Amino acid sequence: MKLPDKVCLVEVGPRDGLQNEATALSVVQKSTLVDKLSACGLSVIETGSFVSARWVPQMADSGDVFSTIRRYPGVRYTALTPNERGLDAAIDADVSEVAIFAAVTESFSMKNLNASIAATLSRYETVLSRAAAAGLPVRGYLSCVLGCPYEGAVAPEAVRRLTRHLLDAGCHEVSLGDTIGTGTAGSMNHLLDVLLDGGIPVERLAVHCHDTYGQALANILVALQRGVGTIDTSVSGLGGCPFAVGATGNVATEDVVYLLDGLGIEHGVDLDGLLDASRYISEQLGRETQSRAARALFAARGIAGGHSTST
Ligand code: HMG
Ligand code: MG
Repeated sequence: MKLPDKVCLVEVGPRDGLQNEATALSVVQKSTLVDKLSACGLSVIETGSFVSARWVPQMADSGDVFSTIRRYPGVRYTALTPNERGLDAAIDADVSEVAIFAAVTESFSMKNLNASIAATLSRYETVLSRAAAAGLPVRGYLSCVLGCPYEGAVAPEAVRRLTRHLLDAGCHEVSLGDTIGTGTAGSMNHLLDVLLDGGIPVERLAVHCHDTYGQALANILVALQRGVGTIDTSVSGLGGCPFAVGATGNVATEDVVYLLDGLGIEHGVDLDGLLDASRYISEQLGRETQSRAARALFAARGIAGGHSTST
């Protein structure tokens, strides 16, 4: 199987990571993180989300974060938008791209969006047409593609049907979310069999692997072997979903960069700059980085990286 020569990393730490943090960070701390991520060469940074502050208070200041960041040429600064109100706010914030998000199971859809799958998809029709009119590309997310915290196993055929729906509706790509990290190399491979054999073009897929069970790197390697060239990652392994209790962070960007370097796959990220961002956010949150590669590299370099400066 041929691996891609090059992959695009979608950095989701400032959104997926910080949405789940108990520590409230200031706009300056959040925008400093985004600036450090821009500086190290990441080309897509999910910077915030325009969702209900009642549901996710950590993202309530996303508009201010967007107006504070330094925008690097060629970098796309993206945000989640669950409805038209979110889209309006995203347009006001001058985002480069928006993302809509749906779930494969009814239970997760109700918990995350307070609406059924059908109602969510119908709400997105207007979001998609208005985004197109505003010239904004739209990414689609599907949650729970390899397991649901409420319903357990998920049929890959349901993932294929919803992926097809989001692409036909106008999403330029669909990110397959293993929200609770229960997927394995076997189940990821089987899911991709069903999607690719079912006519979903591989270049329109991304993978979004939470690392709750320590399987994310293995699952990503399988996706790379199947030709997937877009991988969502989160600096320092930040992340989780407030509506998937117990789910931990996304795969760490540092770990994926280390993997890609070993495979000789181009990714455009400067590892030293990324470690600087990793150390910064760990210090702000006062805890050690979740990235195994970052911890090993900090130790090898004799840097007290990833620990709170106060300890
Ligand atoms: P609702 O309560 O059903 O609807 O929420 P509502 O219309 O009654 O709105 C509730 C309140 O939110 C109202 O304010 C609205 O005005 C306000 P109140 O009357 O209480 O003062 N509101 C908004 N405020 C700001 N921006 C908006 C907005 N919309 C309504 N856009 C809703 C429905 C969809 C809004 C809510 O369920 C919601 O915000 N859900 C988002 C949840 C979320 O952000 N989850 C985490 C991100 S998804 C994820 O992490 C998974 C992913 O990483 C992939 C994976 O890992 O699987 C992407
Ligand atoms: Mg996620």
